[in-house]
Amino acid sequence: MSMKGKFIVIDGGEGSGKTTILKWFAETPFGKKFLITHEPGGTKFADKIRALALSEEATRAPAETQFGLMWAARAEHLKNKIIPALAKGVNVISDRFDSSTFAYQIYGQEAKHLEELFWQTREVFLRDRKPDIYIFLDVEPEIGIKRISQNRKKAKPLDHFEKRSLDFHQRVREGYVEFFKTVPHITIDAHRSLKEVQLEVSALVRKYIRS
Ligand code: TMP
Repeated sequence: MSMKGKFIVIDGGEGSGKTTILKWFAETPFGKKFLITHEPGGTKFADKIRALALSEEATRAPAETQFGLMWAARAEHLKNKIIPALAKGVNVISDRFDSSTFAYQIYGQEAKHLEELFWQTREVFLRDRKPDIYIFLDVEPEIGIKRISQNRKKAKPLDHFEKRSLDFHQRVREGYVEFFKTVPHITIDAHRSLKEVQLEVSALVRKYIRS
């Protein structure tokens, strides 16, 4: 019997609540058994790539640049953090993963010409380390954006992706819907209260780990 841990991704547009939910989950007795990580970033080096990709200077960077940065950070994150944990039998949850590149770069930044390269890169970079399941926290961009602009305030300024137009975020949502047609996933309605979504995510993860 293999010891391999399960690899779960939680993804969704801005204001879907995933980061808050994972912060809560990480503190629960059940959650403490997981390696909870995030993208872009997750290792010291990948965090440097994150800082570059989300910097003011990157505001006008074309989709090709962001695509390259995101996959570079992902390769680093996967090799040095995710794979070693899975190999030890630890279950991993990542806040965002390749689903975000598909949604933000190919759909949000309107670079459909990168789609074929996306699937090729995914195959070459991830090989047998593709996520076992994606949990998609689906929220209407109008509602998600309202949430982040109300909650964030001064603590953490919005990055250049978060500040983009509603159209951009609508395309991002379309991108998620397209991506999830191809991979194993569960969609959660994230319009409900944080508490309800939180409990559903936790129950789903529990059920999935047991199966
Ligand atoms: P975060 O706010 O969830 O930490 O994510 C940072 C931003 O990076 C978010 O606006 C989405 C964006 N992003 C991409 O554009 N492509 C990617 O591949 C990833 C992982 C994130």
